[in-house]
Amino acid sequence: MSRKPFVAGNWKMNCTSAEGLALVGQLVSEAQKDGSVEVAICPPYGLTSKVHDALRGSEIALGAQDVFWMESGAFTGRISGAMLRDLGVTHCIVGHSETRGRFGVVEVPESTLGFFAETDETCRLKIEALNQHGIVPILCVGETLAERNEGRTDAVIQAQISGGLAGFDEVELGHLVLAYEPVWAIGTGQTCDTPEAERVCAMIRTHLASLFSAEFAERTRVLYGGSVKAANAHDLFHQPNIDGGLVGGASLKSAEFVAIVRAAKPA
Ligand code: PGA
Repeated sequence: MSRKPFVAGNWKMNCTSAEGLALVGQLVSEAQKDGSVEVAICPPYGLTSKVHDALRGSEIALGAQDVFWMESGAFTGRISGAMLRDLGVTHCIVGHSETRGRFGVVEVPESTLGFFAETDETCRLKIEALNQHGIVPILCVGETLAERNEGRTDAVIQAQISGGLAGFDEVELGHLVLAYEPVWAIGTGQTCDTPEAERVCAMIRTHLASLFSAEFAERTRVLYGGSVKAANAHDLFHQPNIDGGLVGGASLKSAEFVAIVRAAKPA
């Protein structure tokens, strides 16, 4: 079965509206020429509406970087699945390492950890909320450097997947996208080497098969993320188990992002 390559750009907390709209303008004219690669961009919430309008008529999908699982209420600073849907969002990142705080491993300044502290259970709740609104969840998993050095990479990722997807059946996860994002490779310029990225993505697929079915594992897209750039994208994306990428820093440079999207085209 062939899986359509997918490249998503995560702008994180970057871009004024002028910068964001300039970037979208360049992407719309360049990134999506033949439809062989699915592309999404995830701007900060404040730009969602403007980016939505700028993407109209293009094939680039609009994503969000996070969601809160409650429908509405006194949850200051949060945004619901219904609100994202209302803004035209079709994809949403869940469990990015910058929103996870795991077992005392500090991935943001320690003083800010309490504001994030996403767990596998909150990932599961977020996926449920996104499902209710027909928004594609992009579930991020990945080990820290300490976990890798302790030989726990596979166990950590398997636990994240089992916890985040607990209680769903494969029909409910029909549009799920997984992203393997080794924490030590994110924003560091230190990409995971291709054979190891492929090994972990294959392991993720095997784990999905054991939780659901071989067919589900075969049709679910698994992306790689962590210092993807034009120079390494082709090599990474042409591995049998890597179906594209989740791109942070390089998605803020239009020429670089366009080259990454091109690198995902099927051979
Ligand atoms: P990076 O970020 O490409 O800047 O390493 C990737 C991500 O956080 O998804």
